[in-house]
Amino acid sequence: MKKLNIPLMNLADAYADYRGALMEELNAQIDECRFIGGTAVARFEAAWAAYCGLPWAAGCSNGTDALVLALEALGIGAGDEVFLPANSFIATAEAVCRVSAKPVFCDVEEATGLMDAAYFAEAVKKSGKPGAVIPVHLYGQMADIEAIVQIAAENGLKVIEDAAQAHGARRNGLGPGQISDAATFSFYPGKNLGAWGDAGAVVSRHEELLCKIKMIRDHGREKGGKYLHLILGHNHRMDAIQATVLCHKLLYLDAWAEKRRGLAQMYGEVLADIEGIARPITAAGSEPVWYVYTITAERRDELAAYLKDRGIATGIYYPLPLHRQPAFRDRGAMPFLPVTEDLAGKILSLPFWPEMTQDMVRAVGMAMREFYG
Ligand SMILES: Cc1ncc(COP(=O)(O)O)c(C=O)c1O
Repeated sequence: MKKLNIPLMNLADAYADYRGALMEELNAQIDECRFIGGTAVARFEAAWAAYCGLPWAAGCSNGTDALVLALEALGIGAGDEVFLPANSFIATAEAVCRVSAKPVFCDVEEATGLMDAAYFAEAVKKSGKPGAVIPVHLYGQMADIEAIVQIAAENGLKVIEDAAQAHGARRNGLGPGQISDAATFSFYPGKNLGAWGDAGAVVSRHEELLCKIKMIRDHGREKGGKYLHLILGHNHRMDAIQATVLCHKLLYLDAWAEKRRGLAQMYGEVLADIEGIARPITAAGSEPVWYVYTITAERRDELAAYLKDRGIATGIYYPLPLHRQPAFRDRGAMPFLPVTEDLAGKILSLPFWPEMTQDMVRAVGMAMREFYG
């Protein structure tokens, strides 16, 4: 059998769309000698807020720091319990520990892998000090944000949406940040909107919150001032080069999302009726942006090895759930979360990026059909 060469994702394929024009903008930015903050960041913040359908955005250093900034600005701190799904990237829980709060790991829905609102509703009843909830919009699909916001309101919790994987996603017409306290984004290079380095943002409906975030990200500095620091902060600023890259790439985000939707539909067709796998499920009213295309598969590790042998890369987001991570052993309860634990042994993300060809999708489908015979 001919060995293929299909990576999990390919960032260089999109260069043809934008590289020439972006390099001109970057040269102009370099000529300005303004590398941190400034008009480039302000311009991106305005564009990103508008894209999210919100009045306010604050750019920052990365998606992890965006979570820390949102938690701190909302007053979440020592001993507060913060509910989050155990099926997420480490950053979600790491940020909670960074503000001395306590992560409370919740189970996820079997169909979508997203935070289970019913589990959260039960867990919050047992909480001694409920502080906040961080639903994660994993794989490009939003969690049941309306239910989660309602449960949070009934129990006095703040809501921060971790939308690191969900740029432009909607659920019942609502995007990240539209009914919660804040939503955070990562612009890590491989994300749907990716920088050429690390970058992140917080968006919100609340001006006061965003002003506080902007102060905390810049050493607690007085607005417009230099050496007067009103509160303790961090250096979590966005740099001007990344803001320039993001502003430019934002022009293409909808077109790339359209290509992702087309590929997801095609995968759905080529994988139909393969016994041994389940294709991703889109919740009612949900409009995912397909950060990754994640199936569940029987004999997952054998399948991944078989595909690798044929030159097809795959990924697992995430192989060890957060509540099983050694880093959290002394920082929160390690409950048994049956759905999360079952999914961790089955989930597999297939090659996926906007410029992936239809032939490649067919080749992946064919190899999987061969495997399950
Ligand atoms: C769900 C989730 N949350 C948070 C982050 C953290 O973002 P960053 O890598 O920009 O710090 C990521 C990044 O991979 C993520 O996928």
